[in-house]
Amino acid sequence: MSIRLKLVIGLFAIIFIFNLILALLTSWYVGKVYFREVQTRVRMDLNSARDIYQNSIDRIREILHAISIRRSIPVPLAREAEGELGTVLSTVYRDMGMDILTLTDSKGLVLFRAHNPGSKGDDLSTLPILQKVLKTGKSAGGTVVLSEKALLNESPELARRARIELVDTPRSRPLEQKVTDRGMLIAAAVPFRTLDIPGTNTSHSAVLLGAVLLNNNFGIVDKIKSELFRDQQYQGKDIGTATIFLDDVRISTNVRGAEQQRAVGSRMSREVYDRVIRDGAIWARKAFVVSNWFITAYEPILNPDSRVIGALYVGLLEKPFTQPQKVILLFFLLGVAGSVCCSFVLVFFYTRKLLKPIDQILCMSKRVINGDLTARCRLQIPGEMGTLCRSLDQMADTIQQREEELKRVTREQITQSDKLASIGRLSAGIAHEINNPLTGVLTFAHLLQEKKNNSPQDLRDLGVIIRETTRVRDIVRGLLDFARQSPFEKQVLSVNDLISQILQLIRNQKEFKGITVNRDFQADLPPIHGDRNQLQQVFLNLILNAAEAIPGRGTIFIQTRLEMEGVTITIRDTGCGIKKRDLEKIFDPFYTTKPVGKGTGLGLSITYGIIEQHQGTIRCESTWGEGTTFTIVIPPSGAVRKESAREPAR
Ligand SMILES: Nc1ncnc2c1ncn2[C@@H]1O[C@H](COP(=O)(O)OP(=O)(O)OP(=O)(O)O)[C@@H](O)[C@H]1O
Ligand SMILES: [Mg+2]
Repeated sequence: MSIRLKLVIGLFAIIFIFNLILALLTSWYVGKVYFREVQTRVRMDLNSARDIYQNSIDRIREILHAISIRRSIPVPLAREAEGELGTVLSTVYRDMGMDILTLTDSKGLVLFRAHNPGSKGDDLSTLPILQKVLKTGKSAGGTVVLSEKALLNESPELARRARIELVDTPRSRPLEQKVTDRGMLIAAAVPFRTLDIPGTNTSHSAVLLGAVLLNNNFGIVDKIKSELFRDQQYQGKDIGTATIFLDDVRISTNVRGAEQQRAVGSRMSREVYDRVIRDGAIWARKAFVVSNWFITAYEPILNPDSRVIGALYVGLLEKPFTQPQKVILLFFLLGVAGSVCCSFVLVFFYTRKLLKPIDQILCMSKRVINGDLTARCRLQIPGEMGTLCRSLDQMADTIQQREEELKRVTREQITQSDKLASIGRLSAGIAHEINNPLTGVLTFAHLLQEKKNNSPQDLRDLGVIIRETTRVRDIVRGLLDFARQSPFEKQVLSVNDLISQILQLIRNQKEFKGITVNRDFQADLPPIHGDRNQLQQVFLNLILNAAEAIPGRGTIFIQTRLEMEGVTITIRDTGCGIKKRDLEKIFDPFYTTKPVGKGTGLGLSITYGIIEQHQGTIRCESTWGEGTTFTIVIPPSGAVRKESAREPAR
């Protein structure tokens, strides 16, 4: 898989995953905040609903108050109730939408029922609300529950209206009975003042009780719905709903069932029942109501004894609020898809631009590997990639230069070796041819010199012949030495000892007059493996050359060291030096700057050949007018042995 594909896939995956996580987190968080807001609103709606509920109770109380303060009735009450008061109560009952309007005496015995004038004399003192008024002498209001019997006692019509058939509701408690016949009423009671017998204080001796049945009465819940939720609808359903529960049964509601009928007789879910009815706490959360999920708030309804008898509920249909959340999520996911697609296209082009130099580098390196050292990236771009390209180009430049240098040196070495070899062969032939007649000439010249009748002129001439012939013989010997294919007799040698012996030999030669030899030998120099005679010749040649290069007084420094490359011998002199242009010629055979008769020009050629035979190297550095340094490197004997030990295997 190419780097580009890997990069594109990697970046794509990162962008996709991060965007997706971001979208999910954002929509989750937005949804959460949004729901919290809605839930807070529902909680506040519950407060408003409670106010409306409480206002309904207060309204009853105010009506009763209005009746009670407008008149004071004389005793005996019973007679009065059948008279004008009875007429007033009947009018109020009819016009004010009351379900119960009863006048009792100070013991709670019914004096008059506006809703059922024929029924009186029974005792209502057990009714908690009545008890409260009788005890405190002050008005009271609240919610009460009446049994079927009590309702029948009030009026059979009331009992009939209170009757509700229970409906099986999902998630509610198991059904224990099929019908609820109890009635839940909002009620108020006020003390009714009577005109006492003259001379005594005014006291409450009667109570007026008014109540409205909540079962199947939708006045309060519809008022809550219209005032709080403005009857808003979503897909034909009311968004806001309100319910009054008797225990866990909906006795007054505008929550709709499956067939859009009011869900009267259905019941609250078990979890809400446990929290609100059983524990008397507020529920403000999502809840399953009849057949839909609602964002709800429930609070318990207490009777005057502070016992939980039911609950008041408001709720908003959840769907209208989940819908925007889904739209938000969809919007985010579309955003993610869009941004990922754009990113993909951008990443694709960006990586192409970014990795273009790498393609070029790869192409260039392949060409270099295949031997084309002229290949270059030639990219002038800023940044690290540019630096890399430039470095690679420089590297290739260096490799090319080295290669050319290597070729040049190798070519030179081959030329030098070839030259030496061919001259060697030539010299060997000529030397053999010349040597024999030369020996004859020299022998005969000596014989002639020994003759007795030689004139002084003859002797001088013969001397010239002998001297010049001897010189020619020396040259021929040199040539023979140079060309000699003599067996190479190797032995372990100490370079320090070898040079010391040579210095001993030449110490008194006339060439060394005025010359100081400065030795700097490494004491523990490892031995080398070589031919004693040949190496003697090498050092002798170099020391003599140095001495001959020093015109008057001077110094020859001879140093031996063990370096990384091998045993290194440096011979430096303070002589005339060599001109730069002559440096490359000094190893050529017959190259000499010495006057005729002084040098053969073979010394360094022979030296070069011998060092090569010892697997060593020789190099010369010189500055005209300052001096010359020859450096010889020969591998130590261990290294040579190892090499020769490996040789048969080759
Ligand atoms: N140490 C040196 N200082 C200056 N020039 C040198 C030195 N060594 C060699 N040369 C130069 O290199 C030339 C060649 O040296 P080489 O030893 O081959 O021949 P030669 O000394 O001239 O003759 P031969 O050694 O045969 O008597 C010399 O003539 C000289 O010009
Ligand atoms: Mg020489």
